[in-house]
Amino acid sequence: SAVAAIVVAAGQGTRLGAGIPKALVPLAGEPLVVHAVRRVRACAQIGPVAVVAPGDLLAQFAALLTDFEVSVVAGGVERTDSVGAGLAALPATSQVVLVHDAARALTPPALFDAVIEAVRDGADAVVPGIAVSDTIKQVDAAGHVVATLDRSVLRAVQTPQGFTRAALTAAHASGDLATDDAALVEKAGGVVRVIDGSPLAAKVTTETDLALLTHLAAGL
Ligand code: C5P
Repeated sequence: SAVAAIVVAAGQGTRLGAGIPKALVPLAGEPLVVHAVRRVRACAQIGPVAVVAPGDLLAQFAALLTDFEVSVVAGGVERTDSVGAGLAALPATSQVVLVHDAARALTPPALFDAVIEAVRDGADAVVPGIAVSDTIKQVDAAGHVVATLDRSVLRAVQTPQGFTRAALTAAHASGDLATDDAALVEKAGGVVRVIDGSPLAAKVTTETDLALLTHLAAGL
């Protein structure tokens, strides 16, 4: 079955504070979105790729990505809107759709293959996840601890997230917003499976993340 991918790169990157959209921030000399798209395209099973960029920067993103066969489309205010725009740009023949954050710039191509395989094994949605090493506490607005969660059952999830096209389309039809698409499938009662993630699939959110991933990139 045909596989397509959406690379969401339309965020502003407010928490990074670089003054430019996060996907354009350089890591080891190249914008995050170029790193991410190169790794997506290195996965031979993936056919059509839609890169979702800030609406006012479509030409700039397209110019950065001329070496790769991708379409560049305008994103929306929320991440969920951007994923929806990417989904609308993909051909209806793609039976498996991956959603990937451009900010997870160093994600290894093998992780894309593992996610695709797990979707084909029968899940509605598949997400890479990492066991959390810190104890996680739930707090109230005043900073008081409300609960201490059992970390052995927690996973920090990454992208690429993989979906049957039907599950992703149905999840998006709900009109709900979420920080990850698998949560929409979960809410709709779908089967969401977690597979082993990768430290290289970490997301650039802060300056510290950028420094750590720059260090990791030097070792690749
Ligand atoms: O904000 P966060 O780090 O969770 O964003 C994850 C990914 O979603 C980033 O690659 C970002 O560019 C993308 N995004 C988007 N459209 C938005 C918000 C975020 O494409 N409106």
